[in-house]
Amino acid sequence: QTVTWDIEQAQKDGYEHFMLKEIHEQPDALRHTISPRVKNGLPDWSGDGLPKDFFSRFERIQIVACGTAMHAGMIGKTIIEKLARIPVEVDIASEFRYRDPILTGNTLVIIVSQSGETADSLAALRLAKQMELSTLAIVNVAGSSIAREAEHVLYTFAGPEISVASTKAYSVQISLLYLIAFTLGQEKGLLSEEQVRVLTRQLFASAEAVRGALRLQERIEMSAKSLAGAEHLFFLGRGLDYALACEGSLKLKEVSYVHCEAYAAGELKHGTISLITEGVPVIALCTQTALLPKMLSNIKETTARGAKVFVIAKQGETISQDVADTVLLLDDFDDLFMPFPAVTVLQLIAYFTARQRGCDIDKPRNLAKSVTVE
Ligand code: G6P
Repeated sequence: QTVTWDIEQAQKDGYEHFMLKEIHEQPDALRHTISPRVKNGLPDWSGDGLPKDFFSRFERIQIVACGTAMHAGMIGKTIIEKLARIPVEVDIASEFRYRDPILTGNTLVIIVSQSGETADSLAALRLAKQMELSTLAIVNVAGSSIAREAEHVLYTFAGPEISVASTKAYSVQISLLYLIAFTLGQEKGLLSEEQVRVLTRQLFASAEAVRGALRLQERIEMSAKSLAGAEHLFFLGRGLDYALACEGSLKLKEVSYVHCEAYAAGELKHGTISLITEGVPVIALCTQTALLPKMLSNIKETTARGAKVFVIAKQGETISQDVADTVLLLDDFDDLFMPFPAVTVLQLIAYFTARQRGCDIDKPRNLAKSVTVE
């Protein structure tokens, strides 16, 4: 007697798609990535072979990456600049290579890549090395080209990511950028040891915050039904929420083929608002308490034009019903760490919208997991 054994089905572990499985793996991926870099409650990079006080030599940081990894870099920029007051630039690898970048010796170039094989990111790394700059790679795949060629490597421990659309890799990439920001903040004398301890604890707690977001799955699945018929859709946010909007928009485009755009909420009135017409869905990220009043006034500009608004905010915020059609409330958590649960919601929105539209979720048309051509 033969047993029919589908290896792929077995690997999916009961989930319908790898994408959903990988979204659910985020809390563990985060813990596996953060834990080895924390000793006695403080960041410690000795296991990665970084020299002591490695980060303190740098006065500028240049992050280079593609796709989702580049969006992770946008979060990293905001966090590092906020906590360590060091200027950070983020570039798309294919742009960085050809723009003749002006970089000085005290710049650290951070290449972020899940696969470690993306041709443009690898070429950007080689360019940085040619310019004799220090290079640090944040990579998921052990022994990949970028990991081998960079001067230093920090591995993310997300485990294999099979779905073409990247999910858990993003969360672990940003977790390391947060830890780098704490380290830099302390080394630059801007954060006390006690403050870094508190931040590090919060970073660990982000795994739990992701679990909280996963508990909203059923509600998100319901909401996705009303997104599935859309032709165009907008993501709005300010600050960290803008960086998240970019990732949410990419995810939805990748897997559901709905055309969408991410907009910095304050910029909407400078043109794009003309595209907001009756029934156009707007997903408004409102996880940053300090920016909430501004977000609400931007949202009102869209509801006044008939937009169907979905708000993602924190428990305890008052979002009146005449502003939003649907409100998804995440557990209250420090603004700084909201990207972890918020991106989970965006990933689930993309997943369930694609599922509703009957798309080939794990292998979207024309996309490759690792792009080794320029
Ligand atoms: C491809 C994938 C994306 C990914 C990007 C960068 O376009 O489809 O999901 O974000 O490459 O890949 P990397 O492996 O360098 O993170």
